[in-house]
Amino acid sequence: MSSARIVVVGTGYVGLTTGACLASLGHRVTCADVDVAKVNRLSAGRVDILEPGLAELVSRGLANGRLSFVVGAREAVRSAEGVFLCVPTPMGAGGSADLRAVEAVTAEIGDVLPPGCALITKSTVPVGTAKRIQAMVGRDDVPVVSNPEFLREGTAVQDFLNPDRIVVGSDSHAAAAWVGQLYGDLAAPVVVADAASAELVKYAANCFLALKLSYVNSIAELCERLGADIDLVTEGMGYDRRIGRTFLKPGPGWGGSCLPKDTSALVKVAESVDYDFRMLTSAIDENIAQRDRIVAKIAGACGGTLAGARIGVLGLAFKAGTNDLRDSPALAVSSVLGALGAEITAYDPAVSGGIAGMTVVDDPYQVAKDADVVVVLTEWAEFRNLDWVAIADAMEGDDVVDTRNLLDPGMILDAGLSWQGVGRPRAARRRVPVS
Ligand code: UGA
Repeated sequence: MSSARIVVVGTGYVGLTTGACLASLGHRVTCADVDVAKVNRLSAGRVDILEPGLAELVSRGLANGRLSFVVGAREAVRSAEGVFLCVPTPMGAGGSADLRAVEAVTAEIGDVLPPGCALITKSTVPVGTAKRIQAMVGRDDVPVVSNPEFLREGTAVQDFLNPDRIVVGSDSHAAAAWVGQLYGDLAAPVVVADAASAELVKYAANCFLALKLSYVNSIAELCERLGADIDLVTEGMGYDRRIGRTFLKPGPGWGGSCLPKDTSALVKVAESVDYDFRMLTSAIDENIAQRDRIVAKIAGACGGTLAGARIGVLGLAFKAGTNDLRDSPALAVSSVLGALGAEITAYDPAVSGGIAGMTVVDDPYQVAKDADVVVVLTEWAEFRNLDWVAIADAMEGDDVVDTRNLLDPGMILDAGLSWQGVGRPRAARRRVPVS
């Protein structure tokens, strides 16, 4: 694999990971962003996002000269062989993907791209976007390639460097193959496709994951009603290689910056071609129902009403290993609890600062103080190692609702508390006999 001159536009977790990892593979990478302060911080090696391994790769790239950061993409792309678009595509009005950032960058750089330079979309974009960008650029000598990312927040570097597959799609087979070989050393299968198929792979994969999670949350609900244990059910299912063992953990609902927006966007894409994607709509509805079931479970632990209840929340991020609060199920549950009159004190090891409707503290034991119920909403492993006896002593009530099935119920019982998870039998506090 030869070293290529690459520009990455956008330095969010996808863009920065892409840039730093491509530099680590030997390419010369310039990352462009519109945020001057961020470019200055990154040029000094300061990385704001919590992504294991990323700060190290950025420092190494800066030190060996293979990675640099600039404000604005127009000048940087003039000598590029490939330009990756990694700008946000948030959920727009009505649930469709908002492509304004992609279009703005395309308009900014389209006329100065050197002949033969590949314009590569990494952001998740609706099927047909490559064609649209090609038309916007209006040049036959600039091939547009879709190269969707499959990076999970919190493990983005690891996912980039150990991919299950690389997908590249373009109406120019040669351009798609060229982008595929940029990952040459990574020993992953490369799927070379047309642009529309590559674009659809990303949505099909994320939406399948959302379906899987809504399904597992529904099975967990059945477990509770039928007296079964979701841990044993998913263990038994997961050994079937057609199903697999991952992505089978029930929780307070799925969230984050990707699954909610991508499921809505695919429903919209389907509508645009007159297809009612009922299965996917049900998965979205089921996700809201799961949040409501969790709220009802917490209300039950508070004796039936949330008005005036003091609830200690452990975890605010949408999953462990990240400080990202976008579409976090923990925030969604907390905000419904607050709206129903509960008083919320919350702690998350990666989140600080004020959040409307709750008191955020920087010590996990503070959430327990006078709490009627303590609720685990994000699966940070360190919550397992808290001193649960100290928590029990500080609490007013004696119920722990563990929406991630994170804690060892035996340990919670030993601390003198009751435990209830999701889809698992409740472990009721042992009452000390009164003599
Ligand atoms: C997701 C996909 O997993 C990545 O492959 C994709 O590249 C990325 O979106 C993207 O489109 O950029 P991410 O949003 O980082 O990654 O988060 P996930 O790890 O997929 O988790 C999504 C949600 O599902 C979280 O709320 C998480 O807590 C929940 N989840 C996940 C469960 O409730 N149970 C599980 O077993 C797994």
